[in-house]
Amino acid sequence: MHTKPFSLLCVWLLVLGKEFVSGTFPKAQNVSWYSLNFKTLLTWGPKPVNYSYTVEFSKQNENRERNPLCIQTSDTECDLTADLKELKGRYNADVLSEPVRGLNPPDLIEPPHTTSAWFIPYQDTIIGSPEFKITVNEDQRKITLYVKDTPTAVLNEQKQRMTIRDIFKDDLQYKVIYRKAKSSGKKEKFSASSEIELTDLDRGESYCFNVQAYIPSRPIDKQLGELSQVQCSPKRDKSIFEEYSLAVIAGAILSIIVIISVVIAVIVLCYKRQQRAKSKAKERVPLRHV
Ligand SMILES: *[C@@H]1O[C@H](CO)[C@@H](O)[C@H](O)[C@H]1NC(C)=O
Ligand SMILES: *[C@@H]1O[C@H](CO)[C@@H](O)[C@H](O)[C@H]1NC(C)=O
Repeated sequence: MHTKPFSLLCVWLLVLGKEFVSGTFPKAQNVSWYSLNFKTLLTWGPKPVNYSYTVEFSKQNENRERNPLCIQTSDTECDLTADLKELKGRYNADVLSEPVRGLNPPDLIEPPHTTSAWFIPYQDTIIGSPEFKITVNEDQRKITLYVKDTPTAVLNEQKQRMTIRDIFKDDLQYKVIYRKAKSSGKKEKFSASSEIELTDLDRGESYCFNVQAYIPSRPIDKQLGELSQVQCSPKRDKSIFEEYSLAVIAGAILSIIVIISVVIAVIVLCYKRQQRAKSKAKERVPLRHV
């Protein structure tokens, strides 16, 4: 007869005890991933007063791990760049609220914690705005854009930064949005290469370009990277041969030749007349002397 109320009391005490201890520290809020070019931070709030946070992360179906820099910390972010080693892996993280550093977390009692959303570096990291150079071809009708594959926070075996091309390989494309400097009509071009050729352009016109990474293998809302700055090709003054047709130029040259011929003819005629007048005058002179 005693056992039932007693065990109920025990359960009640346990529940109360757990509530009481875990209730001491607030749970982390707004636990979210922020990742740019594979540099990945976990962020949350609020700033802790008289408690601390510990981050635990794991790949799906694997054991939880900790980053030594994110144990009983008063920060509200944790850099997990080097921890998410498998770029195509699916990770999540817990932010635990614990006593300030130096005090042991209470044993056996689960600390208050908040779990993040899933994060897959390969598909979720934001690809930053690319840099590019413009080269106008000799014949003025073709422009080539040389896009610099953005470096990432991922290091290769030689401890050098890998570029997005090193990581995404053939999954990486670029999207170019361009328009004539004078007009607002936009055109698009997708390119699998980082060297993008735009052909059939109007000779000598200035064109303006915007470039962004494009990864078609990702979910649709994550395919496009950040837009680059706008850059325009130089406007070239048209040469006389482009401005006027050959016939017009030939006509102009012909009329110049005609005008010059006429002028020469007139000069020659005048000269001859003058000479004739002079020689007539000479013929008369001796007569006068006589
Ligand atoms: C969490 O996000 C909400 C909405 O953006 C904001 O109002 C709140 O202050 C945030 N909490 C913390 C602790 O940062
Ligand atoms: C934090 O701890 C200090 C010293 O124990 C205390 O004076 C202060 O009121 C505490 N602050 C809060 C917000 O609990």
